[in-house]
Amino acid sequence: MRTKLAAGNWKMNGLKADLAEVETLVANHPAPLCDVLLCPPATLISAMAQIAGASLDVGAQDCHMKGSGAHTGDISAAMIADAGGSHAIVGHSERRADHHESDVLVRAKAEAAIEGGLIAVVCVGETEAQRDAGETLTIIGNQLKGSLPDHATAANCVVAYEPVWAIGTGRTPMLEQIAEVHDFMRNALVKRFGAEGDGMRLLYGGSVKPSNATEIFAVSNVDGALVGGASLKAADFGAIIAALDAA
Ligand code: 13P
Repeated sequence: MRTKLAAGNWKMNGLKADLAEVETLVANHPAPLCDVLLCPPATLISAMAQIAGASLDVGAQDCHMKGSGAHTGDISAAMIADAGGSHAIVGHSERRADHHESDVLVRAKAEAAIEGGLIAVVCVGETEAQRDAGETLTIIGNQLKGSLPDHATAANCVVAYEPVWAIGTGRTPMLEQIAEVHDFMRNALVKRFGAEGDGMRLLYGGSVKPSNATEIFAVSNVDGALVGGASLKAADFGAIIAALDAA
């Protein structure tokens, strides 16, 4: 059985004052059945990890491929772990677009995260133009092939399917479309990694909110969600955690 995972990505949002939301979340959901992860901006990892205690895990939104050195503005896996982080998102579509990150780079970052003892949350997803052109499964297959390290396991890797056109737009794919991609990803992972691929958690991301979480969590091979906007507020993210616990 795969332990379900509710993951939040705060993106470039959150100041110290917003940690009050995490205090509320922990108070209201001290011992969820599912795993819970929040990835704040790097500036808040340490403070959030102290609030999180054993109730939730804290992670970073990116991780440099090298351990240290002359890389202004970047942070390494060791730094994330040192701050109290246990996960690193890599290959988010915003970084693939804004920072021109390729599958090769994403894979190197995932390798660095894993070697540093972190769990890599590797993101994939098609653009709207790619979906309209009927290329979705080809794109997802190529991104999985290119972005996942060969030594990825169920314990050190999570995959998040985030259709680019569903992120921050309030639009979500039809449930059949989510199922199609998640079933496809599961098959591809089992083919490549065997039992480890069967154990890897597959998250859906893109406009997940309390009102659609239950139906999305009922979809085949959806083991949780990677939530953006709705992870910023304890009430919304708490409702998503509750929906996942009930799934
Ligand atoms: P939204 O939930 O705001 O659409 O963001 C999804 C996302 O990109 C999470 O990584």
